[in-house]
Amino acid sequence: MSRQIPYQPLLLRILHSINGFLVIGALVTGFLVYDSYDGRFGGLGLTKENRTLIDIHGTFGFFLFFVILPLFLAYCLIKGKKRLIQLNQIKDLTKQINQPKWWYNVHRFVNTLALVSVSLAAISGKFQSEDWLPNKELNHLAYYVHLLAWLLLLISVLIHGLMVAKVGGIPLIISMYNIKYKPEDSPHLWWGNLKVWLENLRR
Ligand code: HEM
Ligand code: HEM
Repeated sequence: MSRQIPYQPLLLRILHSINGFLVIGALVTGFLVYDSYDGRFGGLGLTKENRTLIDIHGTFGFFLFFVILPLFLAYCLIKGKKRLIQLNQIKDLTKQINQPKWWYNVHRFVNTLALVSVSLAAISGKFQSEDWLPNKELNHLAYYVHLLAWLLLLISVLIHGLMVAKVGGIPLIISMYNIKYKPEDSPHLWWGNLKVWLENLRR
């Protein structure tokens, strides 16, 4: 039986796609920076020490930290809360294992873990200095936290992909990259909606 393609709000699709692009860019360039300057925990030796790599990585990190992550986080915490794990659902993770509801809860948990990991990576990124690795300073606490965040993020994004495939299959994946939208979801209406939302909040 074929499953229907669900509808995803346009703003979510836009923020999620740009966030995904920047996160994958930061993961790959971050790895290359590590691989060329460090490599103590294993590596591939693909690149040589190169400052441009650090600059490219810093650019991905910059846009993530200052532009997209704050917007994506705000969206997920305010409008997309239902897709993140709620405190009262955490205890359900040990009950009725393997039921569809359980899988959806695990999916929510992994969504949340991906958000926590990307925040940890971006915040610890702000504590890095572009001169540490070229100066062979490899033992800063903030650098270890940044490396750990990379690992956590890689694992959570990989499991996120698996969970999306498990709970919704190909139709759910397509839904996130679909370019059609409903008239009531048009960007022309966003400014008005935001004003109404802020007005309600003030009341
Ligand atoms: C092995 C993995 C990684 C290594 C070795 C690494 C290394 C570095 C270095 C050397 C800097 C300083 C560059 C500069 O200030 O211009 C930096 C900055 C940064 N990194 Fe990473 N990074 C890694 C992974 C990540 C990941 C996965 C993210 C986010 C998803 C990230 C986000 C950032 C951010 C936000 C900055 C600050 C950029 C700025 O505004 O100047 N990093 N990283
Ligand atoms: C690039 C491959 C990716 C694919 C195919 C993908 C796919 C999806 C899909 C289909 C959903 C909707 C799930 C649903 O309706 O239940 C979703 C939601 C979500 N994704 Fe991804 N994703 C990817 C990358 C990422 C990355 C890199 C992050 C963050 C680090 C991320 C964080 C999230 C979060 C937090 C949600 C929930 C949004 C909300 O609260 O409304 N995704 N993803």
